[in-house]
Amino acid sequence: MKIVFSGPGSAATGALVVGVLDGNTLTPSAKALNKKINRGLSRAIKASRFQGKTGQSLAVVTPAGTRLDRLLIVGLGKAKDVNEQSLCKLGGRIYASLAASGSKAATILVDPLEGSTLNPARMAAAIAEGAQLRSYRFGKYHTKSENDSKPTLTTLTLRCRGSAKAKAEFRARDKIVQGVFMTRDLVTEPPNVIYPDSLAKRCKELTKLGVKVEVLGEPQMRRLGMGALLGVGQGSIRESRLVVMRWNGKRGAKAKKDKPVCFVGKGITFDTGGISLKPSGGMEEMKYDMGGSGVVIGLMKALAGRKAKVNAVGVIALAENMPGSNAQRPSDVVTSMSGQTIEVLNTDAEGRLVLADALHYANTRFKPQFIVDLATLTGAIIVALGSEYAGLFSNNDKLSERLSDAGEEVGELVWRLPQGEVFDKMLKSDIADMKNISGGRGAGSITAAQFLGRFVGKTPWAHLDIAGVTWTKSDKPLSPKGATAFGVRLLNRLVADYYEAK
Ligand code: BES
Ligand code: MN
Ligand code: ZN
Repeated sequence: MKIVFSGPGSAATGALVVGVLDGNTLTPSAKALNKKINRGLSRAIKASRFQGKTGQSLAVVTPAGTRLDRLLIVGLGKAKDVNEQSLCKLGGRIYASLAASGSKAATILVDPLEGSTLNPARMAAAIAEGAQLRSYRFGKYHTKSENDSKPTLTTLTLRCRGSAKAKAEFRARDKIVQGVFMTRDLVTEPPNVIYPDSLAKRCKELTKLGVKVEVLGEPQMRRLGMGALLGVGQGSIRESRLVVMRWNGKRGAKAKKDKPVCFVGKGITFDTGGISLKPSGGMEEMKYDMGGSGVVIGLMKALAGRKAKVNAVGVIALAENMPGSNAQRPSDVVTSMSGQTIEVLNTDAEGRLVLADALHYANTRFKPQFIVDLATLTGAIIVALGSEYAGLFSNNDKLSERLSDAGEEVGELVWRLPQGEVFDKMLKSDIADMKNISGGRGAGSITAAQFLGRFVGKTPWAHLDIAGVTWTKSDKPLSPKGATAFGVRLLNRLVADYYEAK
């Protein structure tokens, strides 16, 4: 979809979108239009249940006295509640109502809001970002055109004061959207297409943007002693990989010595459970078990794309968890790169095993300021938090607060859960330094995080359990059903707000 910004004035064709505040207060553009079309707008509102609330909309088809296809009236809610995030979601909803409506073009009229500090240029950019995020489609494997669901909308125009500023503002946001789209593409691809080696190759695409990409194969990982990661992949014919991506965007004399920020992702390209085989019902969902690494890749793309002034490292641990004659067995003991030994009591608790080596590797090689890892780690986090919040676990209050704040700002919410000695002792093994499941019934997400915490030393660290938020079964304002890329916008915002040179 083409996105255009223009100044107020020029005539619109196709669909025209105007905003109305809670209580049906027309915005200035809506007022002017209403006058022009003989109060057609207020009459339509009166004849409907529309009240101007957030999420409400009302379409008037071929409004009399105009050459428009349709008029879409959208609710803005209360003026005091309008912010960048609500506008972003509004953009997503506008896109969704017009995408397959039949209109080829749409124009959104963006007015300054009385009593708000938001300027129309920022407002327009936020709406455009939302529309763009919602317009994501993965059509690669449809060979026949699906006529009625295929979008008709090809051009979206945002009309506002300061349109040049809006355009510039949107350009940076669009880089983040491109990161989100890459993540969604990778997560949506089926596991016969995306497996450790092919995913590592996709990472190489980022070299075009100036990201340095290194791929470690099994012999290298064996030399490094990554027994935990290799154990997970050994039942699969597909070889495991570890990918390191580095974006050095900091400039100046001390830039090289600066500790980088670091992101680590779980990349199980398919999780059958291994010998602790999962039930077949729903197993297809386990193609998104590489979601954490997908987010790290998309994030690196976003940071490099917008030339963020930060030194960032992304490390992803890629393996396929399969049963096979060489698969690891429940009760195997593996030695991780850190030297700590692990009794593998359940081969389906594999995410923590690959992350153990990735975290230790990232921490000792790069000595980062902090590490944030992302993983579709536990089904238990879905029981606890559902699909609106990701689980947050951390050894550092400051990093946690920053993540929570960044999440609120972009609408990717996280909820912190506890860590501590009482949970740590549940990992005690009879034969090794720890076991990979607690064996008890409760606190499954917490003990999984506790396990990871044993591999980061004293480095400030946070773990996001994204099992419940990586895939959505129904459309969301900013994401059609499917892969959400939850985490890309959140971590981009974390970097932008707190770790970037100004
Ligand atoms: N990849 C799964 C977790 C998962 C479940 C992600 C549902 C997305 C949706 C993970 O590897 C797993 O199998 N976890 C086990 C851990 C258990 C064996 C301790 C689980 O949650 O059941
Ligand atoms: Mn598993
Ligand atoms: Zn898994």
